[in-house]
Amino acid sequence: MKIQLREFDVLKSTNETAVAMAQEGAPEGTVIVAARQEGGHGRMQRVWNSPLGGLWFTVILRPQIDPQYAAQITLLAGVAVAKAVRRLYDTESVQIKWPNDLLLDGKKICGILSELQLDENGVIDYAIVGIGVNVALSAADFPAEVAATATSLNTSLHKDFTCDQVLVAIMEDFGILYDKWLLLGADVVMKEWQKLNCTVGKHVLVKDNDQVVFAGTVIDVDEEGAIIVHNEQGIVQSFNFGEISIR
Ligand code: BTN
Repeated sequence: MKIQLREFDVLKSTNETAVAMAQEGAPEGTVIVAARQEGGHGRMQRVWNSPLGGLWFTVILRPQIDPQYAAQITLLAGVAVAKAVRRLYDTESVQIKWPNDLLLDGKKICGILSELQLDENGVIDYAIVGIGVNVALSAADFPAEVAATATSLNTSLHKDFTCDQVLVAIMEDFGILYDKWLLLGADVVMKEWQKLNCTVGKHVLVKDNDQVVFAGTVIDVDEEGAIIVHNEQGIVQSFNFGEISIR
C-alpha cells in the first residue's frame, strides 16, 4: 500500500474528512491525521475525546473484495496497532478486546471506528478506518466517565514516543498486513488476531446500545469477525454488532 499523508492541526473528525476526501476520489492509502479533533466520535454515537497528545487518524482503503468480508478490516487494524505498539514500546501487555478495543493491562489505549461505502451495484466504493491512540495524554485529559477504564501509552509504559513515531510504526504494520490480507485472505489476519485477543474463553455480557442482549462465554471469533458466544442453557449465538463487557 502506498501511503499519502495529509496532516492537519485541527479537524472536526478525521473520519468525516476521510469520507469527504474518499467521495472526491482520494486514493487508497490516503491517511488523514489531526493533532486534535473538535468533534471526534466513537462507536455507538459516543463522543471521542481528542485533545493534543493523542494520535487521531483515518486511513482510506478501496479493497476489491466481497463486502461480506469487510468487517475483517477492523480486526486487521486492531492487529496492526497491537503489533506496532508491542514492538515500539517493547511490551507484550497490549491485547485486543473484541471487536476493536486495544487494552493495556485491561485499560483502553486505542479505539477503532470503520465505515464502509458501497456503490449502487453493491460493490465496495471505499472503506475508512479511523484509529484513535492515547499516546501522550495525562490523567487530566480523560473525561470522568472513562478515567478509570482508559490509559495512555507513554504514561503507563514510561516512554516518551511522539504521535508521529507511533503513526509510522502502525502504518508499517498496517501496510504489510493489508497487502497480505488482499493476497492471501482472512487466515493471515485471524491467526494473528487470535494470538493477540483477550476475549475468547471469557465470560461476557454482549451489549447493543448499552442494553445487555446476551450473556455467556466467548468460544470463538469467526471469519467474518463475529464472536460466537455460548450461554449456560447451551444456546450458541454469534454477534457481529455491539460490544462486550468482560466479567
Ligand atoms: C471507539 O472505541 O469507540 C472508536 C473510537 C475511534 C476514534 C477515532 S480517532 C480518529 C477517528 N476520527 C473519529 O472521529 N473517530 C476515529
